[in-house]
Amino acid sequence: MGQWLEPSRRSDVPPFMVMDVMAAAARIEAAGGHVIHMEVGQPAAGAPSTAIAAAHAALEAGRIDYTSALGIPSLRERIARHYRDAYGCDVSPDRIVVTTGSSGGFILAFLSMFEPGDRVAVTVPGYPPYRHILTALGCEPVLIETTNETRHALTGEALLAAHRKAPLKGVLVGSPANPTGTMMSREALAGLMEAAEDAGIRFISDEIYHGLDYAFPAVTAAALSEHALVINSFSKYFCMTGWRVGWMVVPEILVRPIERLQQNLSISVPSLSQIAAEAAFDGAAEMEAIKHGYQENRRILIEGLPKAGLAKFLPADGAFYLYADVSDFTSDSFEFAKQMLEQARVAATPGLDFDPVHGRSFIRFSYARSPGEMREAVDRIAHWLK
Ligand SMILES: Cc1ncc(COP(=O)(O)O)c(C=O)c1O
Repeated sequence: MGQWLEPSRRSDVPPFMVMDVMAAAARIEAAGGHVIHMEVGQPAAGAPSTAIAAAHAALEAGRIDYTSALGIPSLRERIARHYRDAYGCDVSPDRIVVTTGSSGGFILAFLSMFEPGDRVAVTVPGYPPYRHILTALGCEPVLIETTNETRHALTGEALLAAHRKAPLKGVLVGSPANPTGTMMSREALAGLMEAAEDAGIRFISDEIYHGLDYAFPAVTAAALSEHALVINSFSKYFCMTGWRVGWMVVPEILVRPIERLQQNLSISVPSLSQIAAEAAFDGAAEMEAIKHGYQENRRILIEGLPKAGLAKFLPADGAFYLYADVSDFTSDSFEFAKQMLEQARVAATPGLDFDPVHGRSFIRFSYARSPGEMREAVDRIAHWLK
C-alpha cells in the first residue's frame, strides 16, 4: 500500500458504539428473537401527514430544483413565525438558515465561527458528534464535566474556570440534552450565556429536542441574545430524521459568510425536504399526540424502572432519553448492555458513547416507541435483574 493512500488524521474520528448494539440486535432478530429497541434516538412515528402530502404534491407538480443557499424564503418565514408562536420571540427571517439536518448546521456554524486550533467547550456526558465534528475541522473540543448537583447543566462558573486554564473561543450546550434528557432552566441558560458573552466566548445552543419538554417549558437562546447561534431540526419533534432538514438562527454578521459556505459546500438543502418541512408546521396536532405518547412512556419508565431494580437515573426532563446509573451492577456498561440484549432482549446504549470517563457506569434508554413496548421492557428488565 502506498503512503499516498493514507487517510487524513482528521478523518480518524471514533465510531458510534450504538451501531454495535444495533448490529447485535439485528442478529437476534434475524434468528427469530423479539427485541425491544431502546437504543436508537429516533422517533418510531413518521413525518406528519401534512408534510408527506406536500411532498407528493411537489413531485406531481414537476421539477425539483436547487433552492437559494439559505433556504426557500417561505420556509425561512415560517420558521421565524414559529419563534413568535412557540416562544413569543421576534426573529427576522433574514437570520434563519435552512440546513441539512442539524448535523449540516454544526459544520456551517463551526466553520463560520472558529479558526483551526480554536478551543470550544462541550459538556460530558454529551452528544459525541459535537466533539468529533470539531476535531475533524481542526478545532479542539474541551470537555467539561457536568454533575447531578446542577441537573447536568453547565454553569458559568465551570465555563470560566476552563477559560482561565486556557482561553475558549466558543461553547456549545444542548437542552433538552442527549443522552441525559435533562434540561436547563431559564436562569441556568441565561446565567451561562451571560458569563460566556462577558468573557467573549461564542455561544451555540443545540435546540433539536425543543417541543419535547415535560418538566418545564424549554427556553430558546434566541430569546436571550442576538449573538447566540441556535441550531434546530425537523428530525425529532417532527419525526423527519431521514428528510435531513434543519435550521439555524444566526447572528446577523454570520448570515452572509454562512450563505457563501453553504453555496460552496452543498449548493442548497434538498428542495423536496424543505417543502415538506414547511408543511410539517401544519401537522402540530399530530405531533402533539406523539409527544403525549412519549410522556406516557416516560411515566411508565420513571415508575417501573425503580421497581425493576434500576432506581438511579437523572431527571428525565425532556427529549426521549433516560440516563440510568448501573454502577450497582457493573463497571462495564458495554458488557451490561450486551447481556441485557442477549438475555432480556432489550437494546439500550452504553454510556461510553457519550462519556469516555464515567460512561462505564451508565446506560441510555430511548423511549420514542410505544407505551406497550415500554411496559414490556420494564417487565423484561425486572425479570432479568431478579
Ligand atoms: C443532540 C443532538 N443533536 C443533533 C442531532 C443530529 O440530528 P439531525 O442531523 O438529524 O438533525 C442529534 C441526533 O440524534 C442529537 O441527538
